[in-house]
Amino acid sequence: MKITLSRPVYGRCVQMLEKAGHTVNVLDENRQLEAFRKEFVNSDAVITMLSDVIDASLIENARNLKVVSNYAVGFNNIDIATCKRLGIAVTNTPDVLTDATADIAMTLILMSMRRIQEGQKQLFSGQFSGWRPIGLVGYDLAGKTLGIVGMGRIGKAVAKRAESFGMKIVYCSRSGVKPELMWPCLSMSGLLSESDVVSLHLPYSSETKHLIGEKEFKMMKKTGVLINTARGPIVDENALVEALEKGTIFSAGLDVYENEPAVHPGLLKLPNAVLLPHMGSSTLETRERMGALAAKGVIEVLAGNKPENLVE
Ligand code: DGY
Repeated sequence: MKITLSRPVYGRCVQMLEKAGHTVNVLDENRQLEAFRKEFVNSDAVITMLSDVIDASLIENARNLKVVSNYAVGFNNIDIATCKRLGIAVTNTPDVLTDATADIAMTLILMSMRRIQEGQKQLFSGQFSGWRPIGLVGYDLAGKTLGIVGMGRIGKAVAKRAESFGMKIVYCSRSGVKPELMWPCLSMSGLLSESDVVSLHLPYSSETKHLIGEKEFKMMKKTGVLINTARGPIVDENALVEALEKGTIFSAGLDVYENEPAVHPGLLKLPNAVLLPHMGSSTLETRERMGALAAKGVIEVLAGNKPENLVE
């Protein structure tokens, strides 16, 4: 069968697919959208990236397509309903990127509370004039409350890390109280007003679009920090820029953006916006595991089996 990889990936992905007897076509890093669309519609299986928009028209034109294997845990880039209607399986890469993403969330918490990016900018621009008792003063993590919105695998992994820094954990979750967890489950408004740091770990869908906007920023503490390593459009970026400018909240740490790869120009100017280029899963080990899991999903579907990472 013909399998197209939307971009080159690390590890055994291609090898696994070839070993299973498939013909693999890896598109170039710099391939144009048209080239991708042409290959997509002529493939039996496709390994896609979170930046590939897999819409209904593309799916409907792919006559031989049996599986879309998304090289990401999030799959909001794929029209799942159309895939289901046409009997095309969709798989993703859960679990394997939990630790790497939780590490990046923790990095952003530290950077945002301790003003690391601002300090580095001062230093690299030659403005470090020696230690001072005032200036670049941030906040302790110990004793502060971390509010996790979306207590899935990544949310739990962030909570465990933050606890070892002395933070208290509260959470809110679509599915309500999780009896296996000792941490308090709050309403969204309760979490926003009680937390010193609010960290987002929920999937993006039409229901979570702009979940955090002007009203929510006003409910947060003035010393509050927002962390987003989930998906950009969960946060209303215009409202965030305004909240950071006006001091409605203290700072934000972002790995994802509303109109990715574009970053709101207002964010780029703000000293209290800590910005990373969507690198939550970017460790070699994680990317290798993602490639292997993406390949496994394809192999299982093409062999007529139900893969463990099937999106249902
Ligand atoms: C994912 O897998 O959804 C992540 O955003 C990748 O970094």
